[in-house]
Amino acid sequence: MKKKPTLRTGIVGAGFSARFHWEALRKVYSVNVDVQGVYALDMDQARQYAQERGIRAYESLDALLDDVDVVHCCVLVAGHEQVAIAALRRDKHVIVEKPMTGYCGDGSETFNGDTFSKRQALDYGLASVERMLEAERASKGRICYAENWVYAPSVQREREIIEKTGAQVLWIHGEEAHSGSHNATYAEWKFSGGGVMIGKGCHPLTAALYLKRVEGRARNGKPIRPVTVSARTAALTRMPNFQDEGHIRRDYHDIDDFSMMHVTFEDGTLATVFASDIVLGGIHNWLDVCANNHRTLCNINPNTAMQTYNPVDANFKDIYTVEKIGTKQGWTAMPPDEDWFTGYPQELEAFYSCFVSGDTPESDSLLGADTISTIYSAYVSAEQQGAAVPIKVY
Ligand SMILES: NC(=O)c1ccc[n+]([C@@H]2O[C@H](COP(=O)([O-])OP(=O)(O)OC[C@H]3O[C@@H](n4cnc5c(N)ncnc54)[C@H](O)[C@@H]3O)[C@@H](O)[C@H]2O)c1
Repeated sequence: MKKKPTLRTGIVGAGFSARFHWEALRKVYSVNVDVQGVYALDMDQARQYAQERGIRAYESLDALLDDVDVVHCCVLVAGHEQVAIAALRRDKHVIVEKPMTGYCGDGSETFNGDTFSKRQALDYGLASVERMLEAERASKGRICYAENWVYAPSVQREREIIEKTGAQVLWIHGEEAHSGSHNATYAEWKFSGGGVMIGKGCHPLTAALYLKRVEGRARNGKPIRPVTVSARTAALTRMPNFQDEGHIRRDYHDIDDFSMMHVTFEDGTLATVFASDIVLGGIHNWLDVCANNHRTLCNINPNTAMQTYNPVDANFKDIYTVEKIGTKQGWTAMPPDEDWFTGYPQELEAFYSCFVSGDTPESDSLLGADTISTIYSAYVSAEQQGAAVPIKVY
């Protein structure tokens, strides 16, 4: 058997996403991944992460970059551009978590996500994307955009159907929703670069933009790109008349908790993407692809691969069932391997094999860039009560 190549890797950030990146890294099979260590602004968290995994905690990003070929950018969005550009300048590959970049305010104490002009976010977001793309062009490293929905097995099977049947995709309808993020910083625009429209909406949106690329490449040799977006946002849990019964997170400061994007493509077809933080019953991640010759419902999570009935909640006190479920009592759609359905291990396997082969990943920097452009254009639209806003594509 041919000997596997080895790549040295570092992780930047030591929180939630750094944990699932670690688990997915253990399932990369085409490359020996040698994890050198971790660096994070929160050094205590980095030390604990390193200790639990038997790796080194680095004192600086630069020191980590000295020792690796690849870095995983698992930091809050405000740091994505800085980490990615630092890696690319050293000719390292960088796997950038979603969203690829973002506008986290003007740095002032009084910055408020409800009241600033969203045009500012769009202008900054595009400039940031362009700096990242420029750094990638000048580097031997590349950006892999870590949008796991692209690699979710149901979305990849749909890619195959579109490619082999020459389908015309007329409407893609998708949603990511649950009852609110666990991350304390995800309440303020200055930390998250926006609300649910960017935080969750980016997942189904990127999957829709991706499948329209696939369709265009398969039928005409070039991707079908988005041209306009109309959007609405709301802050339902911040309404004075919201009646809190304790099931839905409600401490958001200046971000949206409900959003809808209506995207038109250059061929006249449509995508509608919903994202919210007000949906009970566990995570609700799905994509419905309506084509001229087939229809596919990608049930990312929940799905019916495994359904378990538990008569007493306490029976399952030591059992993880499904993301964001409110109770373990009664019937639960409990995916036997949630990460697999979500696409995390497939994503990293694909990225590492591209680093070795030199192939362009399915989820590349241009797809990440089009997502940022579409979402911040959508915030401009929402500010204008849903007027259609043109989308710059990359
Ligand atoms: N793909 C997914 O399903 C998914 C899920 C959750 C989070 N994410 C993304 O992952 C990213 C991180 O989110 P998280 O939930 O892991 O956050 P987190 O708060 O749990 O962890 C963030 C970590 O990054 C470190 N950090 C922050 N800024 C830094 C910087 N500039 N340089 C170095 N370290 C820095 C912090 O010290 C901390 O260790 C976000 O972009 C988020 O959108 C993706």
